[in-house]
Amino acid sequence: MARTRCDRTPAWAQLQLAYDNSGKAFDLRQAFAQDAGRFEAFSQSAPYVFADLSKNRIDAATDKLLFDLARQSGLQEHRDAMFAGEKINHTEGREVWHVLLRTPPESSQDGSHRSVELAKVHETLNAMLAFAESVRSDSGITDVVNIGIGGSDLGPQMAVIALDAFATTGKRLHFVSNVDGHELAATLKTVKADSTLFLIASKTFTTIETMTNARSAKAWFEAQGGTDTARHFAALTTNVAAANAFGITTTFGFWDWVGGRYSLWSAIGLPLAIAIGAQGFREFLAGAHAMDEHFRTAPLEQNLPVRLGLLDLWYRNFHGFTSRSIAPYHSALRRLPAYLQQLEMESNGKRVDAEGAALPFGTSPVLWGEPGTNGQHAYFQMLHQGTDVVPLEFVAVKKPRHALASHHTLLLANVLAQAQALMVGKVDAGGHKHFPGNRPSTFLLLDDLTPASLGALIALQEHRVFVSGSLWGINSFDQWGVELGKVLAKDVEARLGSGDTTGLDGSTAGLLARLRA
Ligand code: F6P
Repeated sequence: MARTRCDRTPAWAQLQLAYDNSGKAFDLRQAFAQDAGRFEAFSQSAPYVFADLSKNRIDAATDKLLFDLARQSGLQEHRDAMFAGEKINHTEGREVWHVLLRTPPESSQDGSHRSVELAKVHETLNAMLAFAESVRSDSGITDVVNIGIGGSDLGPQMAVIALDAFATTGKRLHFVSNVDGHELAATLKTVKADSTLFLIASKTFTTIETMTNARSAKAWFEAQGGTDTARHFAALTTNVAAANAFGITTTFGFWDWVGGRYSLWSAIGLPLAIAIGAQGFREFLAGAHAMDEHFRTAPLEQNLPVRLGLLDLWYRNFHGFTSRSIAPYHSALRRLPAYLQQLEMESNGKRVDAEGAALPFGTSPVLWGEPGTNGQHAYFQMLHQGTDVVPLEFVAVKKPRHALASHHTLLLANVLAQAQALMVGKVDAGGHKHFPGNRPSTFLLLDDLTPASLGALIALQEHRVFVSGSLWGINSFDQWGVELGKVLAKDVEARLGSGDTTGLDGSTAGLLARLRA
């Protein structure tokens, strides 16, 4: 499968020209004034998600060049290679196959690798969902504590909170991720050993934070007189042997070809399945699958993940915007920004291309945000009047799941007004009260926040990250950048015990001595 790095395509040079000639000075207000059909032209429907892209600094000519860029760089071939299970994560020698986790079962098997893996996916899914149902109907279990970090925490935690309106069992779900003992200690204070189920979630079953928390949770359980580990501990991991060696016999596996930050759809989703039930979890998978099919089959020009990924590249590489802010106007989506940070920044925070050559352009933006309207009273000042332009991505939900109708009207009024204010600005000669406007935003609209629409929204984000990473020519599926700190932490841990500072830099040595004093 041939990929051409974006800056080596003819379209890249044309985009640079377009940026210099008109893109740089592009004014959204003029664009709307000149084109009554702009909203329709720059809107895109996808499964469960409607996107208004019209308040972005693009026009038909730029769009055309961006689609040319996608074609010239081999985006479709790369996408198809992912769906076909080619080992596109070449630095780890792995397929990138999270889409298989939400692919419906096939009635006949043809013996192919794909067919064998898909059968395993459904066998595990059925077992995991049966277990979730048994926990749901077990009145002896009141609390579920998920111990995991990164992809083994952010996804399930974000989704459990997002779908709280669908949680019907009354079980309390807790998430412990940090190695900071304050977190586990605080959780253990609120639960009882005989009514708690601990889920040890770790793809590798070696992550130091998770293993440390798991050992302490097990020691606490035993100190409380707990003996039935099979009932009170389950492991969600690709490393079932390590989980067994740890003393856990109830295990749900997944596979190397599921990246940690793409694992919510696997056994790592068990907390969500316990919260919303088997049917709800299947709807969640179905929503994601609908978005997968859209990404796989829709023409580039009507393909929402492609349009978003191209916009990300246009802003990062031509406009030079270094960050993107996400503003979910729904309090249940409050962990979405944290989840998206790992998805975008661990995937695309890379400085070399697939061949290991240093890149001459920027990659992952800094992703950040808070739910609206809270962000408005914190950092929106900077978004409206600061020196940097930060493209915003609003997420709004038409239908509330509460009866306080006036609140929802006010919430929707705010999200519309913010997008409007960013774009139109306000002229004031005095300076301090002047709003420059022309600040771009994307508006994602869901009819309702349901398991299916959340699944689609998350799959949309996964695929848009794929698109920009693919165009940048990087491997979006490894994460070598997290390794050095892990290795050094082991060394420093030993030195904190011994006090040995030999060979350390002056700052680390000085801080270490202070911590030991
Ligand atoms: O440190 C980064 C990372 O490897 C993430 O990619 C991953 O989601 C997280 O750690 C947790 O890993 P594991 O599930 O293997 O414990």
